[in-house]
Amino acid sequence: MALQKRYFVHTFGCQMNVSDSLRMGEVLGRLHYVPTTAFQDADLIIVNTCAIREKAEEKMLSALGRYRTVKMSRRALLGVAGCVAQQEKDRLLKRIPFLDFVFGPDAIAKLPEILRRVEEDRVRVVDTAWMDSEEYVFPRADADTARGKVTEFVTIMKGCDNVCSFCVVPHTRGREVSRPFQDILGEIDDLARVGVREVTLIGQNVNSYRGGLEFPQLLCRVAQSPGIDRVRFTTSHPHDLSDELIEAFRTEPKIVPHFHLPVQSGSDRILKSMRRDYTVAAYLERLGRLRAARPGIAVTTDIIVGFPGETAEDFEATLDLTKQVEFENQFSFVFSPRPRTAAGIHEEQWGPVPHEVKIARLEQLQAVQRGISLEIMQHQVGEEVEVLVEGPSKFDPAKRFGRTPENRTVNFEGDGRPGALVRVRIEGASANALRGTQRETVRGVECLD
Ligand code: SAH
Ligand code: SF4
Ligand code: F3S
Repeated sequence: MALQKRYFVHTFGCQMNVSDSLRMGEVLGRLHYVPTTAFQDADLIIVNTCAIREKAEEKMLSALGRYRTVKMSRRALLGVAGCVAQQEKDRLLKRIPFLDFVFGPDAIAKLPEILRRVEEDRVRVVDTAWMDSEEYVFPRADADTARGKVTEFVTIMKGCDNVCSFCVVPHTRGREVSRPFQDILGEIDDLARVGVREVTLIGQNVNSYRGGLEFPQLLCRVAQSPGIDRVRFTTSHPHDLSDELIEAFRTEPKIVPHFHLPVQSGSDRILKSMRRDYTVAAYLERLGRLRAARPGIAVTTDIIVGFPGETAEDFEATLDLTKQVEFENQFSFVFSPRPRTAAGIHEEQWGPVPHEVKIARLEQLQAVQRGISLEIMQHQVGEEVEVLVEGPSKFDPAKRFGRTPENRTVNFEGDGRPGALVRVRIEGASANALRGTQRETVRGVECLD
């Protein structure tokens, strides 16, 4: 028997890329490749890239530098996938002479043909064409990939039709395309059969989903899937937070009490130049309704500081909003000008916010957020919370790790098996994790297959 070839995929970026890398593994498995965790042993290396900020692109370049030596010593094939591939196309082959192939997010199903051409025809290949066939855009996940996992991502749509002035995603992921709801429900049934208990529906802008159902209806249908305990989703744009979606939070308990709702800035002036088409007041009004429908819901957000033209007052407004909303947590970033975006041009016209000012603002904002997060977590001490067990704790393998419905991380003493729902008494808290002791099992794990 021929020696099996080994592949290594290095994933940067968001959940979409994590999910895409799994689909690449499935395609390669059908070509009889096996995964390796040591890139030095690989015959094929793929870097699945992110273009959201300049740093993400720098990370790609330093990873490629590392893999170049394997390419030289083992004649491994080296490819770039994901958002930088889609953005740079054949320019990447020119910039990086040792690269064999470049393919975009819609070309994953075409990997066998791409590899054949590289190996047999000995050509360098670029495939960044947009596909309109759903089989290509949304290859059905093989449930075996998820065997042994408790929680899994399910892609429901791709692309983005918004025009936020700072964002590269519409260029790298194309127009919005929704996946037919029957395929989504079918995939979730398959996942439940191999033991998955929680699904996160993913897309760049999930609540503009239009795949035969509206997004709130889809959520409720997924929640009714046999074997599924919890439904999560990410990411949403505030302008699509409809009354129907809020109502789904009121009526469907399996939709978890966690909402990631990126606000980006606390200043209306900056929101306008970001082309976010909502005001701070409108954001707060939506959030107020959501909190009334599901008291205790954890709200997380994304924020950009140092957007071109951001004054000390604008930044002050972002700090105020952070304090007023009491976000559970936030992902905050320094503005990074991206190619072909309007904000890149604003920055040229108005001049950038000085780098030291951007960094100082980011640090100040993150310190405020850490204080709020810590306070929220400390409030949990003494409470009993429901945890979906995911496996051993990373810090202490004798302990277990899981999450509450609000997505709070819990490390605890107990014997709950992965996939079980247990109650845990919380005894301690940091800003990003809780610790405690298991009290009782709400639901054990039965043999599914
Ligand atoms: N679709 C989501 C965001 C996806 S990108 C939404 O509309 O909210 C994830 C986050 O990266 C964004 O929310 C934003 O905070 C950040 N981001 C995007 N472009 C950026 C840029 N040019 N500079 C800094 N941060 C950026
Ligand atoms: Fe980017 Fe999100 Fe805006 Fe789309 S909605 S352009 S993904 S920030
Ligand atoms: Fe990055 Fe592309 Fe995701 S730019 S954040 S990997 S959609």
